[in-house]
Amino acid sequence: MDESNSQFEQRKRDHIRIALDPRSQTAGQNGLDSITLIHEALPDLNYKEVDISTSFIFSGDVIPLSSPIFISSMTAGHEKGREINEALARLSDRRQILMGVGSQRRELEDSNAAEEWAKVRKQAPKARLLGNIGIAQLIRSPIDKIRRLIDSTEAVALFVHLNPLQEVLQPEGTTEFRTGLQAIENLVKLAGVPVIVKETGCGFSVATLKRLENTGIFAVDVSGKGGTHWGRVEGYRSEESEMLYQVAQTFANWGISTTQSLLNAKEARVEYQLWASGGVRNGLEIGKLMALGASQVGVAKPFLEAALQGDEALENLLTRLETELKVTMFCTGSRNLKDLQSKKVIQ
Ligand SMILES: Cc1cc2nc3c(=O)[nH]c(=O)nc-3n(C[C@H](O)[C@H](O)[C@H](O)COP(=O)(O)O)c2cc1C
Repeated sequence: MDESNSQFEQRKRDHIRIALDPRSQTAGQNGLDSITLIHEALPDLNYKEVDISTSFIFSGDVIPLSSPIFISSMTAGHEKGREINEALARLSDRRQILMGVGSQRRELEDSNAAEEWAKVRKQAPKARLLGNIGIAQLIRSPIDKIRRLIDSTEAVALFVHLNPLQEVLQPEGTTEFRTGLQAIENLVKLAGVPVIVKETGCGFSVATLKRLENTGIFAVDVSGKGGTHWGRVEGYRSEESEMLYQVAQTFANWGISTTQSLLNAKEARVEYQLWASGGVRNGLEIGKLMALGASQVGVAKPFLEAALQGDEALENLLTRLETELKVTMFCTGSRNLKDLQSKKVIQ
């Protein structure tokens, strides 16, 4: 269903407001409580040697990153969203981390919407942005239009998000997912940047991860259950429709946890990189996900909350996450991320 610009703006504002409500969170369900990293009482290193730097490498290009922590895709295409994106992009620029922008769907219909990025870029010329489009839009858009989304953000990669639960519970949702796999395969050939497929909080099964294997994608960000849950968000949004609200309640805990999704990827033995997000709330969890095989770890809602408070809150959040990750590494005897990724975990 096509919606007007004002309906679109209202929907985006609702999403931000409702995502911040604790009822939209599947807190405690990311599966990481069942994972323990083994304590090392005698690390053969000094704390100041712990190195959390990494890089984003594709077809010969190397983008140095200060840490594997990235800002997960959130918002785009409306006035309040621009302020949030400017704050997040300034952080990406200052602190050398990757940042996903929110769905660029509006740019497909309204080329003026791309002006947002020119404004963001003025404040954050060195931000390392990752573009974003939904699978339903990818399926029905010509590839040159999708490429324009990469150009407008000067993105280093493009996320394609999969969100069947959200679309089906959203009154204005786009539920045509047929031929999605072929659309991804086609995009990989023509995008010119790495393509990363992500969920939005419901994770991935072994079978789906395997089906993505021959598409040539660069990575999957599992974005599993354990944090922001789009079944819940859309449910609370449709409170005036009693029926939709009840359906959403039925699916309030639907999905595969972030931990299980990574374990599924191990079982699927996929070749592409694994990224993780979904309910990541501290640096110990980031360390556990790296030990389970993730190369980059994304955080959404906490960065949104901090962005609404300002630059200082964003700096403090990132510093806390990085410090917790470093402590995790010191106490597991991991000098660098490679060491951490080879650590044994107890499940
Ligand atoms: C306000 C908000 C808007 C979001 N919009 C998008 C989006 O446009 N595209 C996307 O791929 N994911 C979107 N997400 C999903 C996040 O990228 C992430 O996958 C999910 O929120 C789980 O992470 P969290 O538990 O840390 O919030 C959004 C999340 C939030 C909180």
